[in-house]
Amino acid sequence: MRGFLGWCLPMNAASPLKRSVVLGCGAYLPANIVTNDALSKRIDTSDEWIRKRTGIRQRHIAADGELTSDLALAACREALKFAGVAVEEIDLIVLATTTPDNTFPATATRVQSALGVKRGMAFDIQAVCSGFIYALSVADNMLRLGQASTALVIGAEVFSRILDWEDRGTCVLFGDGAGAMVLRAMPVSESDVAERGVMSTHLYSDGSHYDALYVDGGPGSTGTAGHVRMDGKEVYRHAVNLMADAVEAAVSANGMTLDDINWLIPHQANMRIIDSISRRLGIGEDRVVITVQGQANTSAATIPLALAAAQDDNRLKSGDIVALTALGGGFTWGAAMIRW
Ligand code: UT7
Repeated sequence: MRGFLGWCLPMNAASPLKRSVVLGCGAYLPANIVTNDALSKRIDTSDEWIRKRTGIRQRHIAADGELTSDLALAACREALKFAGVAVEEIDLIVLATTTPDNTFPATATRVQSALGVKRGMAFDIQAVCSGFIYALSVADNMLRLGQASTALVIGAEVFSRILDWEDRGTCVLFGDGAGAMVLRAMPVSESDVAERGVMSTHLYSDGSHYDALYVDGGPGSTGTAGHVRMDGKEVYRHAVNLMADAVEAAVSANGMTLDDINWLIPHQANMRIIDSISRRLGIGEDRVVITVQGQANTSAATIPLALAAAQDDNRLKSGDIVALTALGGGFTWGAAMIRW
């Protein structure tokens, strides 16, 4: 019979027994870099317009034949190396992507096989640019409930394959890449990790905005190959408030204030959106991790790529409070708080 506590615990509150602790992150960016100037030779745009409106200088584009699973695999290997975790220890792989290798099976299963993981679960999550926060939330809940012990949480995209390269309003904004995180369920009683780990995750969606950002076809019930279509102004109009609201909800759920955040890692779509969120939250640029200039918008991969960058240059210190937030097609959006 379910005990009294079982009914009273909030759905997403950290279990008194286990916490999902981040052991390390890894990144992979395709070697091919496409600058704004290179794009301006193919379409009617300019380096000046792209930089001024978005902050983007360049993006990485996958080579012919390079798939989302290839990018994800490379990022996982980096994350495992940093974490000092062997593939035999992995029993959960959650991969956030909008550009799976095939309609099915899940791209995560291909990563599982390529890594040589022989047990546990592997599946994909589709929440577009919020995908990594959704994947983190699912993995965190499964780890805390004891369904798995050590997880790879991945955001990987080859967005270049679903862009309309004639549509200057979208094709200049995106890039390809992958980031991965190793998460482990640890007993809260282990003193050195008692305070570390995922503190809470907060997920939202509002499908009434479906038409503001979508792919007009592709695998699934429409049965036609598709490209990204976006009402940029409409997305922009909601992005700042919804992401900032989600961070405020996360902070207050943990009984903290915005001043307690050491690092804000927002989805990297547009420098102006990032600036507006940090201004609204009163978080100075010195506490915001920014990668959009060199990578553009890699959808579900922006947050783990930014985490890996901040880990690799030692900005993230043990015990730091890290707030993640993203918004994507749907709309879906959310936030997560992690004590590093
Ligand atoms: O990952 C989540 C999803 N995405 C986002 O968060 C994106 C949110 N939206 C945005 O970042 C911005 O709305 C954009 C960067 C997409 C566009 O910036 P904007 O300031 O809203 O520009 P706009 O769409 O109002 O376009 C202004 C002008 C237009 O020309 P006219 O009508 O004023 O003559 C566009 O045709 O800029 C033109 N334009 C371009 N010019 C040169 C649009 N794209 C380009 C381009 N190069 N690439």
